[in-house]
Amino acid sequence: MPTTTTTDPIPIRQATPSDIPSLTTIIPCAYNPDAFLNKIFPPESVAIRDWWTQVYSKAIGLPSYRILVAVSSTANEVIGVLTLHLHRPPEFGEQGGLCTLVPLTADHHEALKDALVEQARDRATLMRQEPNFQVDLLGVDRAFQGRGVGRRLVQRACEVADQEGAAVFLQTTKAREWYLGLGMGFVPDKTYEDIAGGVVVRPAASG
Ligand SMILES: CC(C)(COP(=O)(O)OP(=O)(O)OC[C@H]1O[C@@H](n2cnc3c(N)ncnc32)[C@H](O)[C@@H]1OP(=O)(O)O)[C@@H](O)C(=O)NCCC(=O)NCCS
Repeated sequence: MPTTTTTDPIPIRQATPSDIPSLTTIIPCAYNPDAFLNKIFPPESVAIRDWWTQVYSKAIGLPSYRILVAVSSTANEVIGVLTLHLHRPPEFGEQGGLCTLVPLTADHHEALKDALVEQARDRATLMRQEPNFQVDLLGVDRAFQGRGVGRRLVQRACEVADQEGAAVFLQTTKAREWYLGLGMGFVPDKTYEDIAGGVVVRPAASG
């Protein structure tokens, strides 16, 4: 009987150090033109690109981080990334996110610090002591958007969370409805000024 093998059309894997050069440009590739993201991570800044190199180099070596990437089949470059950071007791309240692994540069805007403080406060309030993966970053290169790459990254993140028995917590600037459309869970009861942004929580799988 012939055997059939199914290959994933958009394979997702964990990042390796050789992915770091293309990881450092994924934010401007995914978000440009986005006024807020361009303000907090000025795309032309060499210092911020170096900072991303340090951030990813550190995160890839840490067991509490999962850097999931989709890679182009032709150029072997990162076309999409989703970063996960596991918070578990007893360090639960002390860990920051991806952007706190390396001190911010003078080129980062103050608004980033405010956003990180707000995110930490929301996570502490909502997740309490429940183990959770924080999604710090999700972006798909504009040239590859609309082809299911983002969906596959989110699906893989949910699989990882289920394997660890952890919830997923994320704060989005503009894609709240998109996450909910992927069955990501619920929006906590909070009034958001920005109707496209806010917090999304996916509870840990039961059983
Ligand atoms: C949001 C994002 C990750 C989606 O990735 P993607 O690979 O383009 O998404 P998919 O191909 O899996 O899904 C595409 C669908 O999502 C919809 N979609 C994309 N962005 C959306 C948004 N912000 N809100 C609602 N729906 C959205 C598309 O219209 C499309 O709908 P369709 O299937 O009915 O045509 C990507 O567009 C991106 O990187 N955007 C900029 C960065 C960003 O917003 N990141 C989100 C975290 S803040």
